[in-house]
Amino acid sequence: MIPLRSNIAEMNGYLPGFQPKEPDYIKLNTNENPYPPSPSVIAAIQAEVGDSLRRYPEPASRLAREEAGRLYGFDPSWVIMANGSDELLNNLIRAFAGEGEEIAYIHPSYSYYATLAEIQGARVSTFGLTPDFRIDGLPQRYNGKLFFLTTPNAPLGFTFPLSFIGELAERCDGMLVVDEAYADFAKGNALELVRSHENVVVTRTLSKSYSLAGMRLGLAIARPEVIGALDKIRDHYNLDRLAQVAALAALHDQEYFRECVRKIRETREWFSAELRAMEYEVIPSEANFVFATPPDRNGGRLYEGLFNRRILVRYFTDPLLSHGLRISIGSREEMATTLAALREIG
Ligand SMILES: Cc1ncc(COP(=O)(O)O)c(C=O)c1O
Repeated sequence: MIPLRSNIAEMNGYLPGFQPKEPDYIKLNTNENPYPPSPSVIAAIQAEVGDSLRRYPEPASRLAREEAGRLYGFDPSWVIMANGSDELLNNLIRAFAGEGEEIAYIHPSYSYYATLAEIQGARVSTFGLTPDFRIDGLPQRYNGKLFFLTTPNAPLGFTFPLSFIGELAERCDGMLVVDEAYADFAKGNALELVRSHENVVVTRTLSKSYSLAGMRLGLAIARPEVIGALDKIRDHYNLDRLAQVAALAALHDQEYFRECVRKIRETREWFSAELRAMEYEVIPSEANFVFATPPDRNGGRLYEGLFNRRILVRYFTDPLLSHGLRISIGSREEMATTLAALREIG
C-alpha cells in the first residue's frame, strides 16, 4: 500500500472542462476568449524564446507586478502574480486555513475551492443563493477562515453589488476572497474594498479577458502583509520567462484588451436577446458566458443536440443547474451557428 494521506486517497480530484483533440468543434465550454492574444504578447514571447531560457526567471515577476499595480492603481507591494489564479486560490487556503479549519463558498459557484480545501484537509461549508441572488442563511458573523465569493458568479453570470460585498467583508472574521475571474466583462469590481477592508483579497485571471488561458497567468491584489504571506508560499519561480513577458505585454496593451472585451459584451447582449426571443430564460450576465434555460427546462437534451453538431457547451448534472446550460461567448459567427443549431434542435 502506498502511504498516502487519507484525504488524498479518498478524494476524486477536480474534473476540468472537456478539451477536445479535434480542432473542428465550436468550443463554448470553458469560457475561453474567441480572439487571439494581443500581437504584442506574441511578439514578446517570440523575443524571449532563445538563449535566455537557460537562466531562471526573475523570481518575483517584478515588472509584471509593477504593470498591474499601475493599471489598477495600487503600489506593487499590493500585487502578486501567479501561475493562473488557481495557484492563488490554492495558496490562500494554504496560508489561512489549517487542517480541520473551515472555508466557505457559494453553491453554485467554482467547485475547485472545495477540491483545494480537501487537499489541505480543511472543512468546507457551502451557502446557497436566494431567488434574488443573495447568500441564503448567512450568519450575522461568519467565523470560518476564508470565504470565497465568485463575482461575477460562475456559472450563473450575475454580480453581487459592491455594498453587499462590503457588508460581507465586515461579517467575515476571516478573509474574504473576491474571485473576479470574470470582472473585466462586468460593469464594476471590488478593488476599492481592498483599500477599505484589510481582510479582502481580489483575484483576477488573464485566462479569459486577455485570451491567455494557455499561458496560465493570474494575479491578486491585497494588503502587503497578505501578499508577503503568499510570496512565502508560492513556488519561488512560479512564472516562467515566457509567462512574465506575456503578462507584461498583455496588461500593457489596454487598447487591444478593451476592444476584445467590447466585442464579447456586445455579442453577449445580442446572443442573450436572441435566446430570450426563443423563450429561453437567460440570467442577465456580466461575464463572458450566459446561463440559459430552454422552455422545456432540459439542459441535457440540448447539450446532446449541440454536441452532435460539434458545438461544445457546459452542462452540469447538479439538480440546481441541470435545467440549463452555461454557454461561453465566442465570436459573432460562432454564436450565430449556435443559435441556428438550437433552433434546429427545437
Ligand atoms: C470562477 C473562477 N475562478 C478561477 C478560475 C481559474 O482561472 P485561471 O485560469 O486563472 O486559473 C476560473 C476558471 O475557469 C473560474 O471560473
